[in-house]
Amino acid sequence: MYYDKRGLAFTASSQAAVDAFDDSVDEFLAAGRDAATLLKRVSEADPDMIMGQVLRGYFNMLPAHAHLVAQGHEALSRAEALAGDATERERKHVEALAAWCAGDIRRMNTIWDSILIDDPHDILALRVAHTMHFFLGDLAQMRDSMAGVMPRWDESVPGYGYVLGCRAFSLEENHDLARAESMGKRAVEINEDDIWAGHCVGHVLEAQGRRQEGIAWVDAHEPAWQKRGIFARHMWWHRALHYLELERFDDVLDAYDRQYWPEPSEDNIDIGNASSMLMRFDMLGIDVGDRWDSVADVCTGKVATRLRPFNDLHYMMALTMGGRRVEAQALLDSMRAFADEHPGGSVSVAQIYRDAGIPVAEAIFAHGAKDYARVIDIMMQARYRMLPLGGSWAQRDVWERMLINAAIKDGRHDLARVLLAERTDMAPTSGPSWAMYADALTNCGEGDAAQTARARAAELLAA
Ligand SMILES: [Fe+2]
Repeated sequence: MYYDKRGLAFTASSQAAVDAFDDSVDEFLAAGRDAATLLKRVSEADPDMIMGQVLRGYFNMLPAHAHLVAQGHEALSRAEALAGDATERERKHVEALAAWCAGDIRRMNTIWDSILIDDPHDILALRVAHTMHFFLGDLAQMRDSMAGVMPRWDESVPGYGYVLGCRAFSLEENHDLARAESMGKRAVEINEDDIWAGHCVGHVLEAQGRRQEGIAWVDAHEPAWQKRGIFARHMWWHRALHYLELERFDDVLDAYDRQYWPEPSEDNIDIGNASSMLMRFDMLGIDVGDRWDSVADVCTGKVATRLRPFNDLHYMMALTMGGRRVEAQALLDSMRAFADEHPGGSVSVAQIYRDAGIPVAEAIFAHGAKDYARVIDIMMQARYRMLPLGGSWAQRDVWERMLINAAIKDGRHDLARVLLAERTDMAPTSGPSWAMYADALTNCGEGDAAQTARARAAELLAA
């Protein structure tokens, strides 16, 4: 038996294999480019290390790519064959991977959380549980999963900063912004490579409308985060959201071309960044040239395989707005077929398709056809069922905007007024929201209130 740097026991043939495993996990925690390369060193040191196979399975399942899922299943087969000699903790990891391959993500998350009861220093279980609670929009579980282990962590335990960053993000998504900000900043002080903690602070600054601080935060850490992997581009997208709110549209598109969609990408984070930003531009009535084309090209190849409703909705925006109505219809049909093929609750995402994925996809399809009455009809109910789609509040906001946009375009001024009253109450620091609210109030004949709202918009946009 050999031990990792936090003292957990591993079934392996050498300490070198466990050390290589630690290195790969560290790189994964820092969203680095080399986690998979480092994992190969585990295989070289010990091809039969059970946790090496489990980690390979996790790495292949996490990106939600059809071509990697098969490798995830293959890693599971290898891990199951090795499980006879494993520790209980290792066997639970194999069970979790099996649940993942079977689509039972909620059971998988429960297994990881059960590992953390006995082994709160299992930083891999902790990090993947954090990620996958987020994936399902299980925000209370995400918060509690982290809160439960924190008393067992302090700065003397290797990896503490990463854990603090996850704890911070779990608080941010549960709207506990003050604690999230201080913990996130401390985690970045401990280790500037911790881009997930930096991302948490970025979300706090976005949620509070602290535009200049939000831009400066990303600027200050750009040299460090540029060395991270694909996730860095999500940070450039976050910075561009601040530009958008300041109506610096040229800067948003310049960043699009140079930073967060510099070339076509198959990665779902990249597609999400690109698709949702272009959708925001469409709703603002700003021409984006031929930028939809390359995103739609990539998404055309993803029409047939269903893995995650959240990603599918970003494909749907790109296909619909990129003029690929046939492919968009095929995607919608595929989503419906998947939901029908997986009744019951054993495939976690099937229910999410039924509750939110398919309705929101239908609304996007209707948006593309300028059938705004239908968008309103669907989204007035679906907006309250979107949490299980996963992703962040900032990401799902694009579909809230779609409903407001539909109300405006359909001449439903009273509805637009109500939705924007709600929005300016929830996000009182958004200049463009106050400007839209002012327009809605004007359209409703409420001149004095409109003037007040417009003054607030001007004040925020000048900040
Ligand atoms: Fe984000």
